[in-house]
Amino acid sequence: MNQTVVILDFGGQYNQLIARRVRECGVYCEVLPYHTPVEKILEKKPIGIIFTGGPNSVYLENAPRCSKEVFELGIPVLGICYGIQVMAHMLGGHVTSPDSREYGKTETKYDTACPLFDGLPPQGITWMSHTDYVDQMPEGFSMAAYTDSCPTAAMQNTEKKLYGLQFHPEVLHTQNGKEMLHNFLYKVCGAQGDWTMGDYAQNAIDAIRRKVGNGKVLLALSGGVDSSVAAALLAKAVGPQLTCIFVDHGLMRKNEGDEVETAFADKGMNFIRVNAQDRFLDKLSGVSEPEKKRKIIGEEFIRVFEAEAKKIGRVDYLVQGTIYPDVIESGAGDAAVIKSHHNVGGLPDYVDFKEIIEPLRPLFKDEVRKLGKELGLPDYLVWRQPFPGPGLAIRVIGEITKEKLDILRDADAIFREEIAEAHLDRDIHQYFAVLTSMRSVGVMGDSRTYDYTLALRGVTTTDFMTADWARIPYEVLEKVSNRIINEVRGVNRIVYDITSKPPATIEWE
Ligand code: XMP
Repeated sequence: MNQTVVILDFGGQYNQLIARRVRECGVYCEVLPYHTPVEKILEKKPIGIIFTGGPNSVYLENAPRCSKEVFELGIPVLGICYGIQVMAHMLGGHVTSPDSREYGKTETKYDTACPLFDGLPPQGITWMSHTDYVDQMPEGFSMAAYTDSCPTAAMQNTEKKLYGLQFHPEVLHTQNGKEMLHNFLYKVCGAQGDWTMGDYAQNAIDAIRRKVGNGKVLLALSGGVDSSVAAALLAKAVGPQLTCIFVDHGLMRKNEGDEVETAFADKGMNFIRVNAQDRFLDKLSGVSEPEKKRKIIGEEFIRVFEAEAKKIGRVDYLVQGTIYPDVIESGAGDAAVIKSHHNVGGLPDYVDFKEIIEPLRPLFKDEVRKLGKELGLPDYLVWRQPFPGPGLAIRVIGEITKEKLDILRDADAIFREEIAEAHLDRDIHQYFAVLTSMRSVGVMGDSRTYDYTLALRGVTTTDFMTADWARIPYEVLEKVSNRIINEVRGVNRIVYDITSKPPATIEWE
């Protein structure tokens, strides 16, 4: 059994980020609700406990509290943000609610004799996001860091191994934040770093087996990173009971449909590829309005999937490749609909099943990629860039025809080859070609041409909510342009998109 850290969740927005940092430090952790009974916590045999932040004030009625015994177990505790406040309050200290909040990057001074700050500089920037703070520490505690407006940016009781931080060490804006967590884990809790992504895979496989028993499992495979990794995990866990349905709508990039088939056919699970290209093209014929295209594809996808699923009969579980950022984004409120994103992932309303399994739910994208490698998926799947559910249908502007799709596929493949050749494929986060459907006059071999204008798009981004256009070197663009003009019929002009998001979006439709 791995050494385990228990993270008690007090409702903060960064709780999974804390878990991720602990995993990055090579330590296994589990996030449990703050009110988890002590016996349950002890069952995990934790080497340490971390309290997350939370939106509440300790003085609110029903303010979240953990069991008081948590502090008496002799197990090290680190309280972060609300966590330090609840610790101070429950142990007899005092928390104050001033009129102003402390928010953002804050200059902070540390006592480097405190194990959390051991080996780190005596001052640095931390990320603060709080109103309340501890103005009177409980007995036995001493101050370990402060800022201009917060006298107890950190507190410690080394004898009882209880620590608190008012700022967020898990957030990248906090300088050396990860080292502070590392110090807590290794210098206070005695962690040995015995946890790896291989362990994550094995734990997930065991958990899936326990849950599924001999039930039947269904997964909609899109060929994207998340659904591919989920499929590989499920295949290892319950292969013969798993059916993956891959609806090839004919709107994928060059060779992608076959790549997905190669990776998943004959891998110990039931793999069904539905070649539905003609169905989709028929439905899309004559349609040029972007939102209408999206709706048609979404609906048609569900129909095809449903028809296949019906052949299998009742299934017990439906798998979704939801990852942690999806969970945050879907809770993000009432943002205006710019584009109705649809993911070919989960279709709960249309298929008869008992429960949904989301084996990637706590993971961030780069962790999903690591897990994919661990499970033996090829690089071309694990490092695939994001690809919209409606596929090339929203990269052929206006009306879609097979001819236009083929032109786009060939041009896009050349662009991708050259980006990879120039070793830019991991720096530019998304790059693709767009067939504008606009024609212009050109000249080739002394003759007039009247062909399509193709646009190239490349962006750098961290979250795809905002993006900057990628500064692709001219020589690379030149080579791409020459190759496309020479190798792809039907294109006589190539432009590079130099708009950021906003005001443009990443895709053209
Ligand atoms: P936009 O164009 O809105 O794209 O700036 C942001 C990111 O989302 C992807 N995208 C989609 N993904 N279904 C998806 O699964 C969709 O309908 C869709 N539309 C855009 C886009 O490729 C980019 O990564």
